[in-house]
Amino acid sequence: MQPATAKVTVVGAGYVGSTCAHLAALKNLASEIVLTDVLEGRAEGIALDMNQSAAIEGFQARVVGSSEPEATYDSDLFIVTAGRPRKPGMSRSDLLEVNGRIVCEVAESIRRGSPDAIVIVVTNPLDSMVGLMRAKLGFPAQRVIGMAGVLDSARFSWFLSEATGAAVQDVDAMVLGAHGDSMVPMPRYCTVNGVSAQDLVPADAMDAMVDRTRKGGAEIVKLLKTGSAWYAPASASVAMAESILNDGRRLLPSACLLNGEYGFEGIYMGVPAILGRQGVERIVEVPLSTESRIQMQSTAGEISRDMDSLRDLGLL
Ligand code: 2OP
Repeated sequence: MQPATAKVTVVGAGYVGSTCAHLAALKNLASEIVLTDVLEGRAEGIALDMNQSAAIEGFQARVVGSSEPEATYDSDLFIVTAGRPRKPGMSRSDLLEVNGRIVCEVAESIRRGSPDAIVIVVTNPLDSMVGLMRAKLGFPAQRVIGMAGVLDSARFSWFLSEATGAAVQDVDAMVLGAHGDSMVPMPRYCTVNGVSAQDLVPADAMDAMVDRTRKGGAEIVKLLKTGSAWYAPASASVAMAESILNDGRRLLPSACLLNGEYGFEGIYMGVPAILGRQGVERIVEVPLSTESRIQMQSTAGEISRDMDSLRDLGLL
């Protein structure tokens, strides 16, 4: 699957999806980037506008907009962003039923037209949506991955950069667990060009950044009032796609199906993973403190409750 001939489909031409398509085009991530949406004309209009920027930006990728599932067939990789965003006061789990039904429809189309594809799920509530997607696709778990940890870690990195005054590109942060209020930021694995972040900021400031990272999505939803973030989620999704399509083998926190790792079985959760051309090449188990293990148990409980709700709804 070489980028020169790859076909990538972004499902959902909302803010996140259209930004994903734009970033993918600017990076020449694939030769064909399909952008789909159920709203007649939306994806087609955005794609035409994007293609017309190619004369200025110089990318060769061709963006195809469509509302027809057939346009996505034989895609190498999908980024699934379709679904409702949160409104102020909502938790991501409040989207479970409406977005679960959308994920089921998208899964059927992918299963029918692109049986060998790798699928990155962005739709919230992320951890249960990627679990639902994989259950409906029946694909090997290594080819069905959730995007969340890269986004949450990027937020943590930004806060650490602001607190230390260091360039954000020198900051590495890690967030594991669910993409929700119970996520597990990992200060012990945060560094600034190799220097432990815990040696650079006082404990109370680190705690405040951990809390702000957990609520990072809600902070933006509250400011926007009409939707949720899209630039950082799109950058995170395309970074994962890039590592997969280019066999970059980057270690990126990703929602993966755990099969005993970290003591969990049969649940999707954000963990460090090496992403390459097969999708999840390897799940990396890092040592956890007792406190972090307890937090991972709690976050797993949040995900399990959403999975049970999907069963109660008859979606799983
Ligand atoms: C966020 O955290 C939309 O879940 C996404 O902003």
